[in-house]
Amino acid sequence: METSTIPVKDQSTDFMPINGTDYLEFYVSNAKQAAHFYKSAFGFQSLAYAGLETGLKDRESYVVVQDKIRLVLTSPLRSGTEIGKHIDKHGDGVKVTALWVDDAAYAYSEAMKRGAKSYLEPEVLEDHEGKVIRSGIHTYGEVVHIFTERKEYNGIFLPGYRPWNPEYKTDPVGLKYVDHMVGNVELGMMNEWVKFYEDVLGFRQILSFDDKDISTQYTALMSKVMSNGNGRIKFPINEPAAGIKKSQVDEYLEFYEGAGVQHIAVATDSIINTVIELKSRGVEFLQVPGTYYDALNERVGEIDEDIEVLRPLGILVDRDEEGYLLQIFTKTVQARPTMFFEIIQRKGATSFGKGNFKALFEALEREQERRGTL
Ligand code: FE2
Repeated sequence: METSTIPVKDQSTDFMPINGTDYLEFYVSNAKQAAHFYKSAFGFQSLAYAGLETGLKDRESYVVVQDKIRLVLTSPLRSGTEIGKHIDKHGDGVKVTALWVDDAAYAYSEAMKRGAKSYLEPEVLEDHEGKVIRSGIHTYGEVVHIFTERKEYNGIFLPGYRPWNPEYKTDPVGLKYVDHMVGNVELGMMNEWVKFYEDVLGFRQILSFDDKDISTQYTALMSKVMSNGNGRIKFPINEPAAGIKKSQVDEYLEFYEGAGVQHIAVATDSIINTVIELKSRGVEFLQVPGTYYDALNERVGEIDEDIEVLRPLGILVDRDEEGYLLQIFTKTVQARPTMFFEIIQRKGATSFGKGNFKALFEALEREQERRGTL
């Protein structure tokens, strides 16, 4: 089997309309420091806070924002909590992918009717700014999707949060929205989760890659890309394939102790400026060898950017039938070698950088080699 594109289905049959990603919530061991990291290194702005000062006893959350991207960083305030157990098992990682919908009760009942496992029955959260209706279902690993309905809410984030407006502010780096979010699942489980997104959320498979597309001397993985009806939500799902040594997906599954979010791709309109800024703030990226750029022009043809500007920054380029894209991957951003970010700029291309997989995985393997986990 080779890479294949599946035709778009009629959107009028979409039983699960989703407007976009509402927020991503990370369970982390030190939310205060994590929030500072995302502000100082990634250019997010302070938005909202909930914790002891808002009446919570067991946890604290900081919300940061950059254009359409909202991150919630949550830590427990005492031992024995569900959040604490999650962190003990997985380290820092994504717990919630919140999906913005017009009707959270309807989304929940449609998903449940189609076989979802409940995480949160529809609930109404209210404060003086209005109300938000939320509901939630489980997906792979311990990750959950929360449906958020906020058309009757005027507050800063969610009821229960107060504005967080500290003196320290940083300039944004041009990150605009979540382009896609990738999950790593256990060997043999990719198709189960593909079916889950098809059956339960009405997603369709738009691309698939197998180990012939994605393999190096050591790594092999398979991936299928799921998209919702309007294409605003894209969830590639990876599973490891048998390789000579431990693949990057195996390493993730071992250190995360199960399935989870591998990377979050965030879009920018100017990847060169964004990456220059991120590097100056200490964000570390995977580096491909200089030879990658020697063959670039031949592979992708004419592009607007100067290759000699891309080369020292390590920005990768790929082309598909519709255009091209520029992308770069950070090193993992927490203690465990698990989650990382992708920065992506699309110039027509709707794919995911297949032409870069080999160079990229070899770069990842050099990192694994250093960790002794290859
Ligand atoms: Fe990606």
